[in-house]
Amino acid sequence: MTKSIFKEGFLWGGATAANQLEGAYQADGKGLSVADAMPGGKQRWSILAGEEFDWRIDESNYIYPNHTGIDHYHRFKEDISLFAKMGFKCYRFSIAWSRIFPNGDETTPNEAGLHFYDELIDTCLNYNIEPVVTISHYEMPLNLAKKYGGWKNRELIDFYERFADVVLKRYYQKVKYWMTFNEINSPFELPALSMGMVKSNGGGVWQNIFQAWHHQFVASAKAVKIGHELDPNLQIGCMIIYGTTYSYDANPTNQVATMIQNQEFNYFCADVQVRGKYPAYVKRMFEKYDVQPLEIKADDLALISAHTVDYIGFSYYMSTAINETTTAEKVQGNILGGVKNPFLKASDWGWQIDPDGLRIALNELYNRYEKPLFIVENGLGAYDEVDENFYVADDYRIDYLRKHIVAMGQAVKDGVDLMGYTPWGCIDLVSASTGEMSKRYGFIYVDKDDEGKGTFNRYEKKSFGWYKKVIATNGTDL
Ligand code: BG6
Repeated sequence: MTKSIFKEGFLWGGATAANQLEGAYQADGKGLSVADAMPGGKQRWSILAGEEFDWRIDESNYIYPNHTGIDHYHRFKEDISLFAKMGFKCYRFSIAWSRIFPNGDETTPNEAGLHFYDELIDTCLNYNIEPVVTISHYEMPLNLAKKYGGWKNRELIDFYERFADVVLKRYYQKVKYWMTFNEINSPFELPALSMGMVKSNGGGVWQNIFQAWHHQFVASAKAVKIGHELDPNLQIGCMIIYGTTYSYDANPTNQVATMIQNQEFNYFCADVQVRGKYPAYVKRMFEKYDVQPLEIKADDLALISAHTVDYIGFSYYMSTAINETTTAEKVQGNILGGVKNPFLKASDWGWQIDPDGLRIALNELYNRYEKPLFIVENGLGAYDEVDENFYVADDYRIDYLRKHIVAMGQAVKDGVDLMGYTPWGCIDLVSASTGEMSKRYGFIYVDKDDEGKGTFNRYEKKSFGWYKKVIATNGTDL
């Protein structure tokens, strides 16, 4: 076999999040999460982007795709057996906070919720699949958003710490890889899912968002502390969205704007979580966003500094281009914004496909932090068409993933320390930004449509066999 550029034990796998696939949204004592309050379709995007919203669930007018997800809660054994068939070395999933603490502010966890994750984790381990756990992935208990106003409230630190303490203590002997918050930098655009903050509870105010971030940084440091005290070998990472950012042209005004976008969006959160301190440019950010000094308690900065993360997990889907000097068409419908890059094609949702951007992302992150990197999300959301046997010939997905894996290999040759690769939505699931089922990422097709209709049966797509071969050859046969 050709020698692989990827290290031995490279973590090939796939990634999901509880709220997007489990369904069973009220089973066995589970409480409602913020994601459970998100309707499918266009309404969801406007809520995420800050429209007035009071967390009301209105089933007579809207559908709520997360309520049934893909029913992974009842079918996880079949799903994990399919992951094993592909040869997954690891599986990234999240623990639904509201299964463990239904309202978020209880003092005792819900044993039935923990029982589900006992079984899920044991099933992975039986197949030699390493679990990779995101503690909080866009699914905080709804009560914490409604009653406490989300993460701008300092009390959230204690609630999160209790949750992290319970799951870390229960699973640290079985789970080595953890991440504290999914895409912690996403509130620049979408504070609803990760901070529980919408316009009606202050989500449109930068002061609140930065205060909420501070609370998340402290909470994350506390989780790292708990984990490392249990076992210093646990690998606990941060998780950011990385959007490689180009200046549209050589105009220094655009170059400066690109530098600023990089600092704010790509680096701010990671700088705090990896380097253990607020970066120097935060002063300028606070001025720009009209943020008064944050409420910081005596021990906060020492905690943040003492308990930094072991690795950087990140999602990479696309790049963006910055143009402040001429009129160029804006990109619609993705979190990075920016303008259309004439050299790139985009997905049907306007996400600009850019494998070279992944090589750049890996180099930029590694050379800035010199910490191992883990690509914990990447992939192509696409409309899949099934034939009469429910087979999807998804060559476009294979093409996307192949090019991104080639770019990963180039980055490893550049000297980057890359731990693993878990493409997003390895089994079709509910889209986070639109609530659609028809925005599919999986190697496994799930028969469910945007209205929630279908058998929920699982079918292997063409990419299933392709990815199996990639894993079996440690990325040499693409
Ligand atoms: C990431 C999130 O932003 O992108 C996932 O961590 C999400 O939860 C994924 O599903 C893809 O986005 P979307 O909107 O296509 O589901």
